[in-house]
Formats: sequence, C-alpha cells, structure tokens
Amino acid sequence: MTQTDPDFVAFLRAYPTYPTTGVIDDLRTTEYARLDIGGHIYLDYTGGGLYAESQLHRHNRLLAEHVFGNPHSGNPTSQAATQLVEHAREYVLKFFNADPDEYLAIFTPNASGALKLVGESYPFSKGRYLLTFDNHNSVNGIREFAHARGADVTYIPIALPDMRVDASHLDRELAQPSKDGHNLFAYPAQSNFSSVEHPLEWIEKAHKNGWDVLLDAAAFVPTNKLDLSEVKPDFVTISFYKMFGYPTGLGALIARREALAKLHRPWFAGGTITVASVQGDKYYMADGAHAFEDGTIDYLNIPAIEIGLKHIESIGYDVIHERVHSLAGWLLDNLTSMKHSNGMHLARVYGPTTTQDRGGAVAVNFYDKDGKAIDHRFIEEQANEVNISLRTGCFCNPGAGEVALGISRVELDVCFTSPGHEDRLSVDDFRLCIDGKSSGAVRISVGMVTNFKDVQAFLAFARGLLS
Ligand SMILES: Cc1ncc(COP(=O)(O)O)c(C=O)c1O
Repeated sequence: MTQTDPDFVAFLRAYPTYPTTGVIDDLRTTEYARLDIGGHIYLDYTGGGLYAESQLHRHNRLLAEHVFGNPHSGNPTSQAATQLVEHAREYVLKFFNADPDEYLAIFTPNASGALKLVGESYPFSKGRYLLTFDNHNSVNGIREFAHARGADVTYIPIALPDMRVDASHLDRELAQPSKDGHNLFAYPAQSNFSSVEHPLEWIEKAHKNGWDVLLDAAAFVPTNKLDLSEVKPDFVTISFYKMFGYPTGLGALIARREALAKLHRPWFAGGTITVASVQGDKYYMADGAHAFEDGTIDYLNIPAIEIGLKHIESIGYDVIHERVHSLAGWLLDNLTSMKHSNGMHLARVYGPTTTQDRGGAVAVNFYDKDGKAIDHRFIEEQANEVNISLRTGCFCNPGAGEVALGISRVELDVCFTSPGHEDRLSVDDFRLCIDGKSSGAVRISVGMVTNFKDVQAFLAFARGLLS
C-alpha cells in the first residue's frame, strides 16, 4: 500500500496515529512472512492469535538444548522442569502486574478449563450466579453447577444496537446479593460476539455489594493491558493461544488468594494433594496453585508462555491497541457505508459502530438489495474461495446471538419442546426451527498483526456482494 493510494490517504486522514504502529509492518515481513507467502487474509484473531517465528525458534532451542523430566519427581531433570514452570508462573503474574501476595496463577488447558475450575468448586449453595447475556458458553456452562447446588441464576440483558448492558439494571441486581450464600458475578471484559468492552469499574462496584467477580478476559487481553494492581477481579480466565498463537492447549486461572480459599474442589488427582490414603480414606490438598492443576501439567510447553508474553511486551500493548483500533475503525466506517444501487445497506453490524469501548471484532450479517439476509454459511464459502479466514455462526456466544438475531424466548421454547427434540437438537434442526431468521453471523476480527491490506482485501470482498 503506497502513500499515494487514495484509500490509504483517506485512512491516514481518519486514523492519523496509525503510522506509530509501523513496527508491526516490519514484523509482518520477518516474523509473520508466512501470512503473505501463503496469500492468507487472516481475520479470525478472536478465534486464535498468530505466533511469531522467533517464538518457535526460542522454544525449540530450549527443548533441544536441555533435558526436562516430569516435575512430580525430584531428580535433576525434574527440578529443571519445575524451575521453568515456576518461572513462567511468576512471569504471568508480573505480566498482569499482579502482586504475588495477592494473586496466584494456575495453569489450565485453556480459558474453558479455568472457568470449569471456578464453576465446579464455587460454593454456590443458597447463593447467586449473575452473568451478562453476552458470555461465552464456557461461562454460561457454570450455571449448571450453580443450578445443581440450588443457587439463583440471573442473566443481565444487553440491548441492541450497541449490545451493551443497561447500567441501572445491573446496579439493581448487584444491590441484591444473597444474604445466606456466596455471590458470583461473571462477565467478559470484551465480548467475543459484539466486541463490546464492558467497564472494569463493575468489579469494584460488585465487590462493594458483596459479590465475587469472575472476569473472562480471554477476548480482551490479546489487545488490551489488564493491570491487576488497578482492578481486582477475584478470578480471571485466559487462553494463551489467543494472545500470541503458540502454544495451544494452555490457559490460566489467575485468582485472588482470598477468593481461591473459598473454592472446594470436587475431587483430588495426582499432583493436587500432599497426602492421600487408600486405607485411611483421607486426602490433604496441596497448597495454592498445585491444588488446581490435575495430573502432570504441560511442562514442556509452559515455558513457551513466557516467550510469548515477552513477545507481546517487545511490541507493547499501546502499539497493538492503536493498530487494532485504527483498522477496526476503518473496517466499521466502510462496512456501514456500503449500499446497493437502490440505496439499501449491505451490512448490519451487531455492536458498536464506532471504536469507543470496543475491540477489533466486527460481527455482521450481509443483506441483498431486497433486504434479504445472505446466509452466513454462503459468505464463509465465498471467503474461503479467496483465502480469507473469518468466523461464522454464533461464536459460542448464544445469548449475544439471540439478541442480535432477534430470536425470542418463545421461539426458543417452541424449538426446545417440539416432539423429538427433548434430548437432541442438531444445528440444522435448530436452523429449520427458526425458519426465516438468520441463525448466525459473520465475524471479522482484526488483531495484532493485521495490516491495511488485509482490511482492504476484506472490503473488496464485501463490495463484491453489492448489486
Ligand atoms: C470471551 C471468551 N471466553 C472464553 C473462551 C473460551 O476459550 P477456549 O476455547 O480457549 O477455552 C473464548 C474463546 O473463544 C472467548 O472468546
């Protein structure tokens, strides 16, 4: 893209700080060259981040030059592995500016694994579980633990067009914690559907009203700094591959020690106990993070987390944020202004259409000139043809999907109680049931190494849908 390209000139006029992120263009040619060599237009950063080549080389070298054994032993190779794992653990806390006297980091297989740890261990009995409509399914799933233990489960609605929460509604609910039990409030720092960034001030407000706070930061931390010296959620859940692409299979639960002490694990496993007896039918849980890490942890890959975090630090969140902000803004500006020859809009964005308090994912549906929705599966097929990687469906976020697509409780009840669908309902059955409505959307998500060319390629693709 040259400085004389009229679109680029218009983009720079609208987003004059974009050139401050030039370091990312350099990285595209060194660390992420495979994207352009392969002709990929990668726009699924909310699905998964991309790794820099140097992350692989550093990790490979570490593995090639050392011998690491199972950390549950006490031999030299085991000690070497333990040292690296514990170093990575400390680094995670340092990265999020979390005081080790206040927080600890538990390694999990992914954000869902971290969420399940909280759900299965939280003392829900006689308490409340409050959550926003736009949570990921792995946060929604915690309601099953809450129901099973007799807690009240309440959803806070979100409203179109911005898909934000009505603050007064939230205040009302927060003001009514259960007096007889524990209260857990869960929300995404950034929605993986609408990309809305919910206020982190809610954390303190919830605390003042007697709630523990579970902040699902999986979609937020890839492009935003989370400073745990400034905000103090009780539980934070993340997946590392969303931040820096490699390794997959690792996430973390970052928990306040005080809140963690409330959790009661439903079982014990290798690695989580100090002593367990068969004849004595007794076990003693290990202290701290170890009580929550079942079996042998992924000790060869955990050191790659530190490498990935350092990679993000070497670029800086300011740069990453600025990049994503500018490119998402340009994408939104253009998508919302595209019209068919008869004046009908091409796209409908679900969520904020300005860059204020939102991240880099844009969820949309496309419409033909008669206002009929173009099936998101067709859009995906067409995008695949030109090597554009995006995401379609409901992105594991059914609450946001139902609001965006106007699917009502009554319609859902009809589908869920129709004969033959008491126990089984496939996606196709569901689609048939809500006949005439879209059952999903298209999500274009820009991320750390997106460039102007990627966004232009998508906009050219979208223009191809105009008639
Ligand atoms: C906001 C949010 N929470 C949780 C998750 C679950 O992450 P994982 O699939 O890595 O467990 C995702 C994944 O897309 C997400 O976007």
